[in-house]
Amino acid sequence: MNTTDFTAWSADALGQVEQALSDWVPAAAPAGLGDAMRYAVLDGGKRVRPLLVLATAAAVQGHAEAALRAACAVELIHAYSLVHDDMPCMDNDVLRRGKPTVHVQFGEAQALLAGDALQALAFELLTPDPGQVPSAMQADLCRCLARAAGEAGMAGGQAIDLASVGKPLSEAQLRHMHMLKTGALLQGSVQMGAECAQSPLTPQARDGLARYGAAVGLAFQVVDDILDVTADSAVLGKTAGKDAAADKPTYVSVMGLDASRALAAQLGDEAHQALDATGLAHVELLRALAERVVNRSN
Ligand code: IPE
Ligand code: IPE
Ligand code: MG
Ligand code: MG
Ligand code: MG
Repeated sequence: MNTTDFTAWSADALGQVEQALSDWVPAAAPAGLGDAMRYAVLDGGKRVRPLLVLATAAAVQGHAEAALRAACAVELIHAYSLVHDDMPCMDNDVLRRGKPTVHVQFGEAQALLAGDALQALAFELLTPDPGQVPSAMQADLCRCLARAAGEAGMAGGQAIDLASVGKPLSEAQLRHMHMLKTGALLQGSVQMGAECAQSPLTPQARDGLARYGAAVGLAFQVVDDILDVTADSAVLGKTAGKDAAADKPTYVSVMGLDASRALAAQLGDEAHQALDATGLAHVELLRALAERVVNRSN
């Protein structure tokens, strides 16, 4: 696929996701909660997870309505994770997506509740009328997202992250933390796209997509660790240099910058090899997304 085709596809996909999120995140929630929810979700974010869902669904000729709902659902979980990640009890950040963080703008209690409500809304989006998405597919998507978001995924990884401040983790421990706190939702995005398939996938396709998701998911957090050191706050839209300031173990602190960059490139190669093994004909969008994750500058 050439760059123009990918750019056109991603512009169209992002347009659909933005519109759907704007339609589905309610402004009218009680006592201003809707304002905090919309502030957390809209107008910002690279939408990497939704693009992974939609690109995977495209590769397996997935159910379009299910794929759009899954794309928005995983972004809602991600947005909630960022709201809570930024709170004073966690990373205590004041800038996110180029704006004051949700608790700075709306207060801590409202930020906590906005996160709670976004998490619930994600599962509501996945469970429409069975005429819109088959019931069995709804159940598969819910299970997938719940596992990626919960104690064996994002939330568990965040617990390890907080428990690891000031600790010299081994590379294996760091990998485990990153696979959970960030990798799980990205891998879950790929898996949700695969769950949108309307006829069963081959074991090779399932396994290859799982390995692709794992490689891209880990690469994403390795690059996040690198950018925390190398990029400006203005480019990142969040405060740079926070990991060292908070004494967080990261790939850069454990392995150094050059080895971290080499690892990100190696994970990119693993992602491409995993796609080769799927036997799927149309994986060009997924290839382009892997490149974007490894080479991103924000
Ligand atoms: C930031 O995620 C937090 C991590 C899991 C590393 P993103 O870099 O995807 O943040 P947005 O959605 O683009 O703001
Ligand atoms: C965040 O990791 C992972 C989440 C589950 C939100 P970071 O704490 O490194 O993310 P940033 O750098 O604040 O975006
Ligand atoms: Mg954090
Ligand atoms: Mg953080
Ligand atoms: Mg970070």
